[in-house]
Amino acid sequence: MIPQKIVTIDGPAGAGKSTLARDLAKYLGWIYLDTGALYRALALTALSRGVDCGDREASESLAARLNLTVSPEPQGTVIAVDGENITERLRAPEVSRMASVISAWPGVRETLLGIQRSLGERGEVVTEGRDMGTVVFPQAGLKLFLQASPEARARRRHLELAAKGEGVTPEEVLRDIVARDQADSSRAVSPLAAAPDAVLIDSTNLDIEAVFKVIIRAFHNRFVAPSKNGTLSA
Ligand code: DC
Repeated sequence: MIPQKIVTIDGPAGAGKSTLARDLAKYLGWIYLDTGALYRALALTALSRGVDCGDREASESLAARLNLTVSPEPQGTVIAVDGENITERLRAPEVSRMASVISAWPGVRETLLGIQRSLGERGEVVTEGRDMGTVVFPQAGLKLFLQASPEARARRRHLELAAKGEGVTPEEVLRDIVARDQADSSRAVSPLAAAPDAVLIDSTNLDIEAVFKVIIRAFHNRFVAPSKNGTLSA
């Protein structure tokens, strides 16, 4: 069987998914799709309209009405709401927290699922999130699950935020990461989880170049390794 030309990268916050998905998409000439940006866009819109992300009905109704434009660009997923580009505001710590809260509601996930699938259906996509390999693209040709210790992830995320001028301490970042891990892994619908057929990669003691090499090897094994009869499988 020809593997579907979709690579999914799932894992907790700060594991390096975005950088690696972007680099892999560039290497392959495929599309890069950051699905966390969709949940972040919904959370930011809720915050700016005074909608409580902890209120299921209000959150699901906002998701259903959201006028979202998603443009997967090589550098990142560009998001507009009602025609206004909000991409630059999606990484703020409060938005991260609320994205995790609002993403737990089944109706929210259902609405965003349709958008994600329609963006991925043409194939040649590298996509990252929490449930890409388990729920959104279970037919993906290659599934990766990236892990790293909470401390290692908090260190990386703190450097990223500090570079953007966000005034947060390393302790606050670690607290947020642990809380988000807990919420994302324990929700009833589409929790953060590795698909049974995912390749697990622990990047605690690896730099990004080393992880990239592991991923390229996994990709070639799956997509271009000669099959038993000597032909290429994709
Ligand atoms: O990947 P990220 O940090 O940008 O994601 C922000 C939040 O969105 C994350 O805490 C949980 C949610 N999310 C999700 O539930 N499912 C996805 N596929 C992607 C993100």
